[in-house]
This record gives sequence, structure tokens and C-alpha cells, in this order.
Amino acid sequence: MKTKISISWATTILIIFFLILFALPLQSCQKRALDLEQVSAEERIVIKFSHVVSEQTPKGMAARRFAELVHERTNGHVEVQVYPNSQLYMDGEEIDALINNNIQIIAPATAKMTEYFPELFLFDLPFLFEDYNQVHQFIDSAEGQMLLSRLTTQGIVSLAMWDNGFKVMTANRPLHKPSDFKGLRFRIMPSRVLDAQFVQLGAMARDLPFSDVYAALERGMVDAAENTPSNIYTKKFFLVQDHLTISDHGYLGYLVLTNEKFWSSLPPDIRLILDETMAEVTAWEREIAIEQNKRDMEMIIASGQIKIYHLSEVEKEFWKEALLPVYAMFVNQIGEELLRAVLHNRY
Ligand code: LMR
Repeated sequence: MKTKISISWATTILIIFFLILFALPLQSCQKRALDLEQVSAEERIVIKFSHVVSEQTPKGMAARRFAELVHERTNGHVEVQVYPNSQLYMDGEEIDALINNNIQIIAPATAKMTEYFPELFLFDLPFLFEDYNQVHQFIDSAEGQMLLSRLTTQGIVSLAMWDNGFKVMTANRPLHKPSDFKGLRFRIMPSRVLDAQFVQLGAMARDLPFSDVYAALERGMVDAAENTPSNIYTKKFFLVQDHLTISDHGYLGYLVLTNEKFWSSLPPDIRLILDETMAEVTAWEREIAIEQNKRDMEMIIASGQIKIYHLSEVEKEFWKEALLPVYAMFVNQIGEELLRAVLHNRY
């Protein structure tokens, strides 16, 4: 009897010993395995990032860089899948897809979100910002940050604001003075400010998804458009228009948006990596957006496929004068205080 007890006692000690020796380190090994690349399909977090432009644009490159850095920093635990060129969803579809969590990040132009957030009409006002610096100073200011933090609706939250750049005009006739716009049909993004801008110039505005613009210009369904050099170059709009006026009359930027429920369901350590990476990529994107637009404008000029006109400062003043009434039309939707702050500080 005594022998039996002492044997089972010894066995218990042995089991505990083996447990300490092998099982516990094994457990921490498994934990480490998660950090070290061997992540199974079930353990991986997939984030679908959908956008409408080419990969060779500031937004396209920033989305790719975000995906690469996130992969590196989470050791493959988080996979950001980027779908450019309206591959998954086009304008008008991607917001619903985000609300339904079919995709987790989108980066639409602020103009395309004005229906949800009328304050964003601000960014569409003609000649409000003179250069990238003024835009950045506003976005980074207390007013700008407050505006971004207010942008939540139907479970959507904003993560950042990214640049594209300053828009120029393209048309099938030269555009030098306000009266040159008379009767032209312009493709616009869905924003009532952009509509008012062209109506004010005696033109007509037609809201079309970005993916339809090339065909609409080529087939003459519209006569003209406004966009940034990077979009005009990468989507070849310069091949289906005869004239380009360098007017820099308006800013085009993006809201990087996510589904709040999805974002807040992420493990805190992962979310921290994503937030930090987003901030870093946003700073990087600001740099490359300037360079890319400059390079693409040079490529358009070098192609010799479209007549380029540099609007003089005097001519610009005539455009500004013609477009001034647009400010008064939208001051209430934007908020007088916000508009005053921008105009007064000119950031
Ligand atoms: C457009 O529709 O012209 C732009 O918003 C496309 C984009 O995302 O830059």
C-alpha cells in the first residue's frame, strides 16, 4: 500500500515536472508563432481597401504603401488588399459597401462625401486655397482637426485626409476667360458647389462616376472636365480633350474612411500599428502628391497631345470675380465660423 502511494506521488511530480519543462514553453512558442509569419488563414485579418484611381497616383501609391508597411509591421497578421481602378466598387457604390463592411477602407474625394457632410463643401470652393501649404495648415489646425473628428455617420469614421492636388480645366475649346465656358457641358464630381461653379460660368454640369469620364469625353457626352494632372495623365483624359488650362482653381483631397465597428473590433495592439502607420503614410503621401502631379503635368506637356494654356494672374482675377457668388451660396452649409476662420487665417 505504502509503495503504491509513493509511486503515484512520484508520478504526479513527474507529470508536473514535464508540464513545466515542455507544455508551458510550447504554449509560449505557439504565441510567438503568431508573431512570426506562420499565421493561418483564420488568424489573418483582411482589410479590403477599395478606390477608383490608378495605382500610379498619389492615392494609389499611398494605399499600396500602407498595405506593405502593415504587412511588415504585423508580420503578415494583417493583410491589406488594395483594389484600385473601381475594380470592386465604383463611385456611389463604395460608401454603401463600407457601411455594410463588405470593404473596410475607402478614400473618396471630399466632394463625394458632401451629401453626408455639407461642411466639406468648403474644399470645393474655387480659389479658396492657394497652395498645398495652406491646405495642410488648415487641416492640421484646431478647426481642421475638429472638422475631421465630426465626420462620422452611419458607422463610418475618418482616419485621415490625403492630398491629390490642384485641379486644372480640360475642354474641347480654349478656356481663357469666364465667357469661354458658356454652353459647355462639364463633368463634375457629385458636389453642389462644383455644380454652382460651372453654372456661375454659364456652363452646364453633369455628375458622372470617375470610371465613366474617359468614355464620356471621348464620345462627346460632355465637352469638358476639371481634374488634377495625376488623374488626367493616368486615365489618359488628355488624349480625348484638345485644350488644357493650368488654372489651379480648386483643391482635390480625400477622406480616408473606415467602418467604425470593424475598426474598434480590432485588437488594440493591431489598431495601434494601423493608426501609427496611417499617420506615417499620410505624411509621406503629402510629399509624393506634389511630386507626382508636377511630374504628370510635365508628361502631359511633353506628349504634345493637348494645347496647354497657363492662366495669367490677371486672368485668374477675372475667374475669381466671376466665381465669388458661389461662396455666399454655401456659407450656411459650411458654417460661417469655419469659412471665416479659413478666409481670415488663410492658413
Ligand atoms: C474624380 O472623380 O474625378 C476624382 O475624385 C477621382 C479621385 O478619386 O481622385
